[in-house]
Amino acid sequence: MKHGAVLLALAVMLSAQHAFSAENFKKTDPAAGKRLFDEAKCNACHDKMMKGDGNRIFTRPDRRITSAPALEKMVRSCIDRTGASLFPEDAEHIAAYLNEQFYKFK
Ligand code: HEC
Repeated sequence: MKHGAVLLALAVMLSAQHAFSAENFKKTDPAAGKRLFDEAKCNACHDKMMKGDGNRIFTRPDRRITSAPALEKMVRSCIDRTGASLFPEDAEHIAAYLNEQFYKFK
């Protein structure tokens, strides 16, 4: 309960300070993002959803994410799903990795 409140406060703070664009990816470290992505087992769910190859969720024709800010937001909400305790900047590294590898937003 207490933990949830802290996370909520953090989320509110972050969304207030955040005007995210693909520009932000230039300040990030996609290689670190890849490592975090693997460590947090991001594809555990996606693998099941995509029948084995979780990465296909990022390239499927009807993928949900169509902009850099949406990608960054989705990464944050998926981090919440994993229960992994990552730093706010980790989300940006992961988003940068996904952008470099799959989405390629400018
Ligand atoms: C508990 C299950 C679960 C875990 C763990 C998970 N995800 Fe997801 N992910 C989902 C679901 C559900 C969707 C939405 C799929 C849909 O709506 O079609 C999704 C979709 C996404 C998308 C959007 C794909 C698109 O359509 O463009 C991204 C990006 C993403 N996840 C990133 C991550 C990252 C990064 C992590 C690790 C921090 C992660 N996910 C961990 C369940 C999960």
